[in-house]
Amino acid sequence: MQKRSGLRRPKKKRSHPGDVSVRALFLVGFMGAGKSSVGRALGERLGWTFVDLDERIERREGRTVAELLRTSGEQKFRRAERAALRELLKELQSGSAMIVALGGGAFVQKENAAGIKSIGVPTVFLDAPVAELWGRCQQQRSSQQVDRPLLIDAQSFQGLYDARRPGYLKASLRMETSGKDAAGVAAEVARAFDLDRRKGV
Ligand code: S3P
Repeated sequence: MQKRSGLRRPKKKRSHPGDVSVRALFLVGFMGAGKSSVGRALGERLGWTFVDLDERIERREGRTVAELLRTSGEQKFRRAERAALRELLKELQSGSAMIVALGGGAFVQKENAAGIKSIGVPTVFLDAPVAELWGRCQQQRSSQQVDRPLLIDAQSFQGLYDARRPGYLKASLRMETSGKDAAGVAAEVARAFDLDRRKGV
């Protein structure tokens, strides 16, 4: 039998058909966790819209997240992130079927986590050993020129991961992604929340 690593049931009442909670899902976790690639794979699998919060921020602000962080600083970036998330939560309340990938720092901001919790949408913490997360980020930097201003050195990366982990663990489910590809993780998430029966719904 497939092991459901770290599965913790949401504390809220179980979702029922028609609930917004079974029509949307948030992917959270540290840089390099695979939130965007798993989100895209899951969106395709279910026929649900995929939303990358960082892309939403970039559209709203007319600048890349990296530019925003470098020129305006982290505080202003977090403000823009909160505003983009608030906008998205309103859309979700109207019942759109959506997979959302959050940026690595979004879910550990208390106001953001509370907003997501208040609409009863499940959250999945995609996790991996920090050395693997670091390796994936290095690879994305060299092969895809992914620009992450908060990626400084291995030591600060580890420190930030350790500081954020308790926040990530507040997600409805922790999923180990080590050595797995995006499609495989998407399949596991779909299974854990019985989402395949809601394809295209
Ligand atoms: C951040 C992670 C990034 C992006 C921004 C800040 C963070 O997203 O939101 O650079 O604080 O960890 P990814 O997790 O997709 O890299």
